[in-house]
Amino acid sequence: MSTEIKKIGVLTSGGDAPGMNAAIRSVVRTAISYDMKVMGIKNGYKGLLNGDITELKSKDVSDIIQRGGTILQTARCKEFMKPEYQERGAEMCRVFGIQGLVVIGGDGSFQGAEKLANLGINTIGIPGTIDLDIACTEYTIGFDTAVNTAMDAINRILDTSSSHSRCSIVEVMGRNAGYIALWCAVNTGAECVLLPERERPSDDEIIRSIVENKNRGKKHFLIVVAEGVGGCHKLAKTIENTTGIESRVTVLGHLQRGGSPTAMDRMQASMMGTRAVDLLHDGHAKRVVAYVKGEYVDYDINEALAMNKNINEFRLRVSKILSVK
Ligand code: ADP
Ligand code: F6P
Repeated sequence: MSTEIKKIGVLTSGGDAPGMNAAIRSVVRTAISYDMKVMGIKNGYKGLLNGDITELKSKDVSDIIQRGGTILQTARCKEFMKPEYQERGAEMCRVFGIQGLVVIGGDGSFQGAEKLANLGINTIGIPGTIDLDIACTEYTIGFDTAVNTAMDAINRILDTSSSHSRCSIVEVMGRNAGYIALWCAVNTGAECVLLPERERPSDDEIIRSIVENKNRGKKHFLIVVAEGVGGCHKLAKTIENTTGIESRVTVLGHLQRGGSPTAMDRMQASMMGTRAVDLLHDGHAKRVVAYVKGEYVDYDINEALAMNKNINEFRLRVSKILSVK
């Protein structure tokens, strides 16, 4: 089917995520396969407002599929929340001849995309965030790499923790979402996991799970805490004072957001990038690409933003059962 869209833009917005480069590459090369031109917009909506926009050719996205970060760089742009700046953003698209825009980011970025769509720019969102907290999709680009990085770091912490019979309290990323924390907890055998979506277990409950495992002969203890819950240092002191078990805190921080994307992230990003451009080519706008039950589907942005997502109870139950020595 032929399309009227001859030129599209692509930007990355919000927190970066491993696999964003693979998504950019996919968008660029799919668009070129449709004879569309692609403009790369630097620094998210900030770059759109500043006109920081240049054409991306196929060779410009060579050798990036394996690289973390985003070659387009990213930003948080507060001004873009205001209607006058959204209008300026739409105007910038028109000035550069951009008829369709692919926005790679999280829910916040999709809200910006929705505003641009209302101003006549065909926008398509691709879920890119390590937090896995976009309700309409079972996968968000970056999660697999981030959770594997965090898990690998915890494995190393457990080596030394085991040598010293200590308790490790590890804070992982997730200001509002506990997916990284829960996956790390299940996959490393944490005694306890603290998630922003759930009521915090009492100190007594946490301590009981540690002491019970100590009495069964366990040599190291682990509490995984999502960033949004916080309080790691206070918890470490409480555990140490109550049980006599030396406790150490590690905040993994931004190392979880870097690194070469895993096979999963490269694959998902490649598929979602093509799907986004297919949608623009077929005349769709104001959609978000999603991965649901093994298929790449799409939703209206507003419908997607209105959806709710919650922590999987079964996974949480399994994490508790399997950490008992
Ligand atoms: P994420 O996309 O990862 O959720 P943010 O919430 O930080 O990250 O949002 C990224 C950017 O998207 C913001 O800095 C802003 O430029 C834009 N944005 C967020 N919310 C809105 C909104 N309600 N209206 C317009 N733009 C928004
Ligand atoms: O990318 C998502 C996320 O990593 C959250 O888990 C975290 O709260 C936030 O971004 C921190 O990002 P920054 O330090 O860039 O503000």
